[in-house]
Amino acid sequence: MKLEEIKTVGVLGAGTMGNGIAHVFARAGYAVILRDVEPRYLDRGLSTIGKNLDREIKKNKLSKAEKAQVIARIHATINMEDIARADFVVEAVPEQLELKTEVLCAADKLLRPEAILATNTSSISVTQLAAATSRPERFVGMHFMNPVPVMQLIEVIRAMQTSEATFEVTMALSEKLGKKPVAVNDAPGFVSNRVLMPLINEAAFAVMEGVATAEAVDAVMKTGMNHPMGPLELADFIGLDVCVDILDVLHTGFGDSKYRACPLLRKMVAAGWLGRKSGRGFYAYQKG
Ligand SMILES: NC(=O)c1ccc[n+]([C@@H]2O[C@H](COP(=O)([O-])OP(=O)(O)OC[C@H]3O[C@@H](n4cnc5c(N)ncnc54)[C@H](O)[C@@H]3O)[C@@H](O)[C@H]2O)c1
Repeated sequence: MKLEEIKTVGVLGAGTMGNGIAHVFARAGYAVILRDVEPRYLDRGLSTIGKNLDREIKKNKLSKAEKAQVIARIHATINMEDIARADFVVEAVPEQLELKTEVLCAADKLLRPEAILATNTSSISVTQLAAATSRPERFVGMHFMNPVPVMQLIEVIRAMQTSEATFEVTMALSEKLGKKPVAVNDAPGFVSNRVLMPLINEAAFAVMEGVATAEAVDAVMKTGMNHPMGPLELADFIGLDVCVDILDVLHTGFGDSKYRACPLLRKMVAAGWLGRKSGRGFYAYQKG
């Protein structure tokens, strides 16, 4: 599959990441087939896309007429068969190995042989997912960051089986979206979470051990290291449950105790203090 042959992109899952991914592809002129399991999830995804496009209108980056064109490029559907005509598919369903394998295998059976399958997994082995399909050499990781329309990075992850042609076209496609792709080989946590999560974890240990308050830890990193957000603010944004899950993946994947999740993080998750989404984490938030 050559870059210019990619005209229609399938996106599996219309949640936090899926609607953002559909947004950026449609915004870049691609026809998008957005698939979720129930109409209400599609409605929610489309409504988020509409609101995010409105933000671009407010910033004079987009006209109202262009917004209508972007939305018109997105075909929302609950029928998996509709993705058969996609040239490139990005999977963004929940982070569960069994579900991802099932969805990717279903897509693999429907797509024509040249089509490329990409996964947006944040922690599952891309090599293992590729092996479950009949097109491992046309399988790749495309790790978008949240919020997708805003964040520039895409980690493009080469599974052990990914062909050079698949990798190159995915890098070029990422650039066409206006993103900054970075090449990474498949390994637990890729680069982003392997580097970020130990930082967050260490910040949590510092709070647990009474070295400093959460505010003080974040202030050191923001004013001293020029980080735009402190690690604990960021942990609240990501979700403390998600952080613990990723640390567990790193711990299991490398078998190295340096990745063991801080007991304070586990305790907060057990208390239901998951960060922004639950209204309380290292900081308190107003819900809604
Ligand atoms: N949220 C983040 O910050 C973030 C960042 C990078 C990567 N990721 C990864 O992106 C993926 C999706 O995460 P999310 O946060 O968007 O999850 P989410 O729960 O917000 O969305 C997942 C969507 O997939 C839908 N879905 C479930 N089964 C499906 C199926 N069989 N076919 C089509 N859709 C189906 C769900 O209804 C839901 O709308 C995960 O692998 C996650 O690890 C998430």
